[in-house]
Amino acid sequence: MNKSKIIYILLVAVFVSCKNNNQYQLISTVPELEMPNNHIKFNEIKDYKNYKIVATHFRTDKNELRYILANNIAFKAYNEKTSFPNGSKIVKIGWNVIKMPNFQAALETKDIQRIEFMIKDKNRFMKNPGNWGYARFVKKDGKYKPWKNGTNSCISCHNLAKENGFLFTKIQDLQ
Ligand code: HEC
Repeated sequence: MNKSKIIYILLVAVFVSCKNNNQYQLISTVPELEMPNNHIKFNEIKDYKNYKIVATHFRTDKNELRYILANNIAFKAYNEKTSFPNGSKIVKIGWNVIKMPNFQAALETKDIQRIEFMIKDKNRFMKNPGNWGYARFVKKDGKYKPWKNGTNSCISCHNLAKENGFLFTKIQDLQ
């Protein structure tokens, strides 16, 4: 092999490794579960660990810290303040919190209690307000289970946020 060929191969290798670093992706595995009423599957958000954080909330009555994450489609709509297109996915992860053992004034997350989400699809959820489909998977003793009470309550409570496209979450300022 001549010198220029070797240099070329080295350059390609460097390029490929840089490219991969820029596209660092977490691989998630989610349980094979689906909601009994609307058949939304947990794996419809299987790449949720790569979604972007939109906001953080804390429910005082449930002692639960929540992250609200959005996939790229929903993240773009949030930032550009447009309506949410088909394919928007918004995830909420809830953790219980405990006092940090070595600094009691600080709280830290302990266990995930739930992962729930909303998916916008004009065809699948044509009858739902805002065309959002809802799913909730609760985690207990290390295992997820689909929420057994259906999703009517999701729809009716999220009606309170009708003015905001049925979303309570507003994007949290980062500066
Ligand atoms: C009694 C009212 C109520 C019910 C019932 C309810 N939610 Fe919500 N939801 C909220 C509120 C308030 C927030 C914002 C505060 C927070 O994050 O907890 C929220 C936030 C969310 C978010 C983040 C996007 C947004 O709208 O802010 C998702 C996703 C979500 N809920 C899914 C669900 C699903 C799935 C169900 C049903 C299984 C459900 N919710 C039932 C009140 C409700």
